[in-house]
Amino acid sequence: MADLFSSFKLKNKEIHNRLVYPPVVRFGLSKGDGFVTEENIESYKYMSSGEAGIVIVEATCISQNGRLRKNQLGIWGDEFIPGLSKIADAIHEKGSLALIQIHHAGIKTDKNSAAIENIFTASSFEDKDGVVIREASEAELEKVIEDFVNASKRAKAAGFDGVEIHGAHGYLISQFLSHNINKREDEYGKDKALLGKKVIKAVKENMDSDFIVGMRLGANEPDLKGGIEYAKTFEKAGVDYLHISSNFSTKEPEDMEIIDDEFSWIANLGFNIKKHVNIPVICVFGIDKPEMADEVIKKGYADFAASAKGLLCDPMWLSKYKTGDKINPCLKCRVCSFYSEDKPCPARKKAGIVTP
Ligand SMILES: Cc1cc2nc3c(=O)[nH]c(=O)nc-3n(C[C@H](O)[C@H](O)[C@H](O)COP(=O)(O)O)c2cc1C
Repeated sequence: MADLFSSFKLKNKEIHNRLVYPPVVRFGLSKGDGFVTEENIESYKYMSSGEAGIVIVEATCISQNGRLRKNQLGIWGDEFIPGLSKIADAIHEKGSLALIQIHHAGIKTDKNSAAIENIFTASSFEDKDGVVIREASEAELEKVIEDFVNASKRAKAAGFDGVEIHGAHGYLISQFLSHNINKREDEYGKDKALLGKKVIKAVKENMDSDFIVGMRLGANEPDLKGGIEYAKTFEKAGVDYLHISSNFSTKEPEDMEIIDDEFSWIANLGFNIKKHVNIPVICVFGIDKPEMADEVIKKGYADFAASAKGLLCDPMWLSKYKTGDKINPCLKCRVCSFYSEDKPCPARKKAGIVTP
């Protein structure tokens, strides 16, 4: 029986265990120009010190006009490669697989970082500030696909083992998946998964076969049944793994099937998807102690268990779980959720962690 410490072969890469540090933006560590800072490198060194099997670098923007915040990391030009390669090296140092999440914010693009006429989404839609964001043209979508491909090439050049295409949390690809936003009448509206499929196919075609191409998928929209269909569609398009989270809507779908009520409904979303695909599945949300992550694997609910806030508070889960030492727990205060300011995490402060 597999457990948290079991290895896993993904393509030709041997992953040492089933724990994942998922993408976590740290806007406060950046300077606003998209370049990696010393603090970013220090932070990834620290987060990789616990030897999680996979470390996925935070949402890194493929286009200067698609940034969630001005101080988001960038991958839209070759000039970002040297800095990103230092992060890849830091992650590889302890043997973790190094992936990077590639992202376009679409309607959520920060208006201080892009002119309003350059911001677009699936179809004309009023954003949270009451501003109507226009529909993307087909030419603009072709450019988005090209930007995802170029970002993947740069990730490879920087030494990453693969990319995670962001198709969750209400960003551009997931805006196309959303029946609420995507009311287009062209092929991208008739087939709401089309943008995601085209991105996956283009990236796969342009990268070596050993380069990992995963996707974070918001699988709750329009409902669980629809999420399962999207997952199967993207598996067919060639994605190498799925990392299941929520979409533009953050609501539990009405047809949700809770497989194990000790876990959040979002983690359960992952457990449901796992039953319908043949590629590896990462589940996430509320898995805040190593015992829970171990149970996910032992019960075969998913292939990998990810913890963001848990590992942020203590990346040494694996060694402490082995020795029985107490981990420094997340206080569930949600200070880190308001990550635009990158306010210090009270749990880290309490434990005397000074690393960014
Ligand atoms: C500070 C912070 C930053 C995050 N940044 C990202 C991100 O860059 N990309 C992403 O897909 N999810 C991001 N997330 C979501 C996490 O990856 C994860 O899905 C979420 O925190 C739930 O997992 P948890 O309960 O283990 O914290 C972020 C979460 C937090 C708290």
